[in-house]
Amino acid sequence: MMDNDRRRDWAPELPLRTPRLLLREHRMTDLDDLALFHGDERTVRYLPWPVRSRDDTRTALLKKLEQHCAPAEGDWLVLAIEEIATGQVIGEVDLKRGADGQADLGYVVRRDREGLGLASEAVRELLRLATEDLGVTTIDAHIVPGNRASERFAERLGFVRHPEGDVDDTEDPTLAYRRSSA
Ligand SMILES: CC(C)(COP(=O)(O)OP(=O)(O)OC[C@H]1O[C@@H](n2cnc3c(N)ncnc32)[C@H](O)[C@@H]1OP(=O)(O)O)[C@@H](O)C(=O)NCCC(=O)NCCS
Repeated sequence: MMDNDRRRDWAPELPLRTPRLLLREHRMTDLDDLALFHGDERTVRYLPWPVRSRDDTRTALLKKLEQHCAPAEGDWLVLAIEEIATGQVIGEVDLKRGADGQADLGYVVRRDREGLGLASEAVRELLRLATEDLGVTTIDAHIVPGNRASERFAERLGFVRHPEGDVDDTEDPTLAYRRSSA
């Protein structure tokens, strides 16, 4: 069980462990691993990210270095997914701190690590942290129309459609999915 200061600041003791993965803070030495998927047009197609050059990935990584805790509403907790077998960072999981026990979820894995159950292993552990340790009761995922892989993924993890949360009146529409434990 997490102590009160860590719970207040959303500052989990890292790494979190699963059978095949560590969820941990980002490090500058992760740049090569990140550049591989930040620069992959197909991986970022449905993410609110551009296709990044190595330099752009470095800039993005500098921000992620600080996001191992989320003390204030609106902050993102951003954890690297390290594959234990290779020591490589193969993706990331994110949780944006909302109000009243609400959070938004994000996830991405490298293309050659899809279809292995690694993304669900990482997200299940993040969901466990959120609900058991951080007091989160409602988790929302915002999925770009057409991202069927992500819709199926969210449904397998117990998310259900939440049409009230859909965003359809902008240039960047999203479909809302929600998982509630309250
Ligand atoms: C969305 C995304 C994370 C899903 O990744 P994924 O690898 O398909 O997800 P999972 O970890 O659940 O893997 C499930 C697949 O692995 C298979 N699998 C193999 N071993 C498995 C295991 N031990 N446990 C679970 N599933 C396993 C499953 O059968 C399933 O295959 P299927 O899709 O052919 O049915 C991935 O496509 C991605 O990163 N996309 C790009 C970024 C993105 O769009 N993010 C979402 C923004 S909203």
